[in-house]
Amino acid sequence: MTLPKAQTKPLRFVKGGALHTLHDVPADRTLLEMLREDLHQTGTKEGCGEGDCGACTVVLGQLQAGKLQTRAVNSCIKLAHSVDGMALWTVEDLAAPDGRLHPAQEALVQCHGSQCGFCTPGFVMSMAALYEQAGKTPITRESAQQALSGNLCRCTGYRPILDAACQMQASPPMPLDSPALRQQLKALARSAGADAAPTQSAQPAYLAPTALADLLALRRAHPDAQLVAGCTDVGLWVTKQHRQFAGVLDTTRVAELRQVDRYPHHIALGAAVRLHDAFAALVKDRPQLQSFADRFAGLPVRNAGTLGGNVANGSPIGDSMPLLIALGSNIVLASTRGYREMPLEALYTGYRQTCMALDEVLAYIKVPRPQRGELARVYKISKRTEDDISAVCLALQLHIQAGKVMRASIGAGGVAATPARARATEAALHCQPWNEITVRAAMDTLRAEFAPISDMRASGGYRRQVLGNLLWRFWLESQGQTATDIHQMDLELQA
Ligand SMILES: Cc1cc2nc3c(=O)[nH]c(=O)nc-3n(C[C@H](O)[C@H](O)[C@H](O)COP(=O)(O)OP(=O)(O)OC[C@H]3O[C@@H](n4cnc5c(N)ncnc54)[C@H](O)[C@@H]3O)c2cc1C
Ligand code: FES
Ligand code: FES
Repeated sequence: MTLPKAQTKPLRFVKGGALHTLHDVPADRTLLEMLREDLHQTGTKEGCGEGDCGACTVVLGQLQAGKLQTRAVNSCIKLAHSVDGMALWTVEDLAAPDGRLHPAQEALVQCHGSQCGFCTPGFVMSMAALYEQAGKTPITRESAQQALSGNLCRCTGYRPILDAACQMQASPPMPLDSPALRQQLKALARSAGADAAPTQSAQPAYLAPTALADLLALRRAHPDAQLVAGCTDVGLWVTKQHRQFAGVLDTTRVAELRQVDRYPHHIALGAAVRLHDAFAALVKDRPQLQSFADRFAGLPVRNAGTLGGNVANGSPIGDSMPLLIALGSNIVLASTRGYREMPLEALYTGYRQTCMALDEVLAYIKVPRPQRGELARVYKISKRTEDDISAVCLALQLHIQAGKVMRASIGAGGVAATPARARATEAALHCQPWNEITVRAAMDTLRAEFAPISDMRASGGYRRQVLGNLLWRFWLESQGQTATDIHQMDLELQA
């Protein structure tokens, strides 16, 4: 059943201080296409068209509890309609009306941070988002590196760009936020129902319900519509595979799915919670996960993509699933028929296949909170430290009492057709003394438990070898014998 064409609303957003209202924007038009081809704002560049280079970075602003929250995202894999009701900045919007450059632009000039200039608008926008979020907090080299983790430059070199990011706070303040902008956004939100009523359109519909009950009703009525969250996977189906959708159903406005709720025994993460926020919630309970969180894609992807999208997409090399499996997480699927809950690994039935029915959506991910005696780590092996997909991911959670493994829970990625639980290895560790003999035996079991394929990321043999090595590393870390700096360890393992 095709979605009724009349349901797509006009697209409205604030850009450069002005309210823009666009009619008849196709549901699958990307934000970058809209900027460059419809608004003729060509400062934003297209490099890879798949979220990898950052040339297309723009900044989005939304009011949350009356405060403006800004974030840098990749416009090439974002659907235009997803910015409805938001503030949007591109490189054209940063300089003051009198021509004074934004501190990010000025610092790049002063530090010679640009040569051919193709990447520069993207860097400027990531830096502008960092500048805005930092406020008066000093920007460090580390925070600059994080903020620029999704931007590539092929000619200048990163040192002058990082220097610029670190010194942009020296310029006179020039915030993106202003009372006038907040008023505009509030007015936009107030009039969302009235002015933005659906118009007759020849385009497939873009529907963005705000309540879970509405999402479920639409899902049941239109099972052929493409469900979309942050669009960091789906965006590539548009730009690279040129797929066309019968309609788009956006989950990211659904209030219930955007919530993080902390209970005594678990955290419930709504499926539409952005990766950045979802990892922040997980790190709050388990600070050792921070370096892993920082290695999931680059910041603009974490600012757009959701945890639910990662889980629902079901890629065997998806990074959050091995961790969530090891932590004993459950998922909750919802439909108009009700809810059903299951262990996360039970979702997957085959390569990128799930047991989700056509009328269901992933609603929540429930992650148990740490208990006394828990030892938990997650390791990602990839060719690059940042912005790269795993060749192998291994997550382990052990409960050790009086030197004995009382419970072992292990999730693995990159070694099977789906994210997987390492059941045989868990059994090999269960009720055994936590010592070198047990670990060496478990390493053999882990290497034998999976038959990973060889592909461009790694050979099957390498993957098997690395699995065992990571368990060894976990053992060493449990004995306090090695640094826990995962970046350093990756380098050693790859050497
Ligand atoms: C440059 C780049 C780097 C990346 N790096 C990594 C990485 O390091 N590790 C990693 O694991 N992934 C990585 N990814 C993949 C991607 O960012 C993640 O899988 C992300 O979590 C997807 O979330 P999303 O919200 O963008 O999903 P979307 O693209 O919106 O959707 C993905 C799939 O999930 C479905 N879906 C979304 N929400 C729901 C829901 N509530 N219920 C049912 N189905 C739903 C959609 O229908 C679609 O099939 C990367 C992607 C890019 C572009
Ligand atoms: S064009 Fe490369 S990230 Fe968008
Ligand atoms: S200045 Fe040329 S790619 Fe960065």
